[in-house]
Amino acid sequence: MNSVILGTGAYAPDRVLTNADLERMVETSDSWILERTGIRERRIVQSGQACSDLAIEAANRALLAARVSPSDIDVILLATCTGDTPLPATACLVQHRLGAVRAAACDISAACCGFIYALAIGDVYIKSGMKHVLVIGAEVMSAITDWTDRNTCVLFGDGAGAVVLGRSVDESKVLSTHLHANGRISDLIYVPGGGSRDPASDDVLQNKRCFIKMRGNETFKIAVKTMEEATHEALKANGMVPQDIDLFIPHQANVRILRAVSQRLGLSEEKVMINLDRFGNTSAASIPLALDQAIQDGRIKRGNKVVMAAFGAGLTWASAVVQW
Ligand code: ACO
Repeated sequence: MNSVILGTGAYAPDRVLTNADLERMVETSDSWILERTGIRERRIVQSGQACSDLAIEAANRALLAARVSPSDIDVILLATCTGDTPLPATACLVQHRLGAVRAAACDISAACCGFIYALAIGDVYIKSGMKHVLVIGAEVMSAITDWTDRNTCVLFGDGAGAVVLGRSVDESKVLSTHLHANGRISDLIYVPGGGSRDPASDDVLQNKRCFIKMRGNETFKIAVKTMEEATHEALKANGMVPQDIDLFIPHQANVRILRAVSQRLGLSEEKVMINLDRFGNTSAASIPLALDQAIQDGRIKRGNKVVMAAFGAGLTWASAVVQW
């Protein structure tokens, strides 16, 4: 039994933070951010709005599109690194508020690869007999961003995307998923404090160890390499060549990374989904947010082959191929 994406949904908070706004917060400029990252603006939560609030909006839209009732969901997998609280899993809050009374629920932590990791797990659950899996990527990156650090604060945004997986009855299906990790370079992108290694304290807060740290330039080079490798691996597994890709949905980190990967694959611009100009890097939410927009814009048609590729903290990298 194969799995199929029955419906997608997405949600981004209303509040827009532009590059001009950031110019007033740190020493940066609209032209630097645009040229170096491709980002014009990002969405940021209102005070009091948390990861589960975004996840629920996206999930409700995906359930509506899939015509699946919350009580028919067997399991909820929420990919996030910015859950409402360290305990319990934010997926449980989503399960309760959706009224998914039969569903098991847990969070998946794989940073920007979280959505593809969760999709891969959901695919296996369907293959092993489950009927409906709700896969969500939701992040409030603004909560772990140091708003005085220009190296990182211009990059991230908040948002959520979701898909409902069900049983495939025809050619539409998840064709493959490939997941990778290399913890040797776990300090490339990380939040040093606030966990069991360096528990929450005044010192953690004062020295900003509860915020994301990143070696951007090194990350950039590894991102291009791993996303290209992940895509080639996915294509090979399906007997495909780059020209067979109808739409490529890469993790929305930096437009220069996306262009470098697309060029190496020989993909023309219209085959590459890019929406980071409006949302920035939303980590685990980035691919499902872009996927839902591609569906809404009519860029994915029945029979199309959609390839997703991501890299992120861990380091993790991953791919998925879906026939629509
Ligand atoms: N405004 C102005 N200048 C800046 C800014 C800014 N916002 N940020 C950095 N600079 C400066 C630096 O201080 C540096 O100045 P210096 O030469 O005087 O030292 C200069 O710009 C160049 O810095 P670089 O780091 O070399 O710039 P680069 O071209 O590499 O761009 C960037 C930086 C945008 C971070 C890029 O490296 C990048 O996108 N990397 C990948 C990040 C990423 O994708 N992370 C994903 C992980 S997220 C996750 O997993 C949750």
